[in-house]
Amino acid sequence: MKPRISIKQVETPDELRQAQRIREIVLETEQGFPHQVNVDGLDPSAMHVLVLDRGEPVGTARLTKRSETEGMLARIALLGSHRGKGLGKRMLRHLETVAKHAGLQTIYVEPHAHLEPFFRSLGYETVPGRVELGGHQLIRLRRRVVP
Ligand SMILES: CC(C)(COP(=O)(O)OP(=O)(O)OC[C@H]1O[C@@H](n2cnc3c(N)ncnc32)[C@H](O)[C@@H]1OP(=O)(O)O)[C@@H](O)C(=O)NCCC(=O)NCCS
Repeated sequence: MKPRISIKQVETPDELRQAQRIREIVLETEQGFPHQVNVDGLDPSAMHVLVLDRGEPVGTARLTKRSETEGMLARIALLGSHRGKGLGKRMLRHLETVAKHAGLQTIYVEPHAHLEPFFRSLGYETVPGRVELGGHQLIRLRRRVVP
């Protein structure tokens, strides 16, 4: 029997499509981000994770490199049915490990302001300033992934 919850790195075009489908549901339909912002051309070179519930995709996030030492976490999306159960935290910890193995030292994330407590509880620190993306005002946080 398949495990209830598993987290895996995206390895195939089919898995990337599954990740993008979740992003469409959460980031476009639910949150109103334009499609061209959601699928911005960086997916092919990014590292993605998929959260699976008995093999069915329920969550995703991606990591892109901004430089040799800095990365960007983005497109973090869990289906509504799977929020508030610790999966967001597990997914981010997984990508932080991926970032470390890729030689990155610091990762950045730009979420809505109401998620600041979520990211701070995971060890992220707020960076001053605001960012605009697809008509949304976002804040910036960062976390060092190496000592
Ligand atoms: C944001 C999101 C990834 C969080 O994942 P989640 O699985 O719901 O969160 P978790 O259950 O892992 O929560 C981890 C901790 O953060 C806290 N937390 C979660 N969401 C929070 C929120 N909105 N505000 C404050 N704290 C929050 C939890 O209470 C938990 O604390 P604990 O470890 O002390 O129990 C998820 O809710 C989601 O996909 N939302 C919609 C898409 C979105 O907004 N993405 C962010 C784009 S950057």
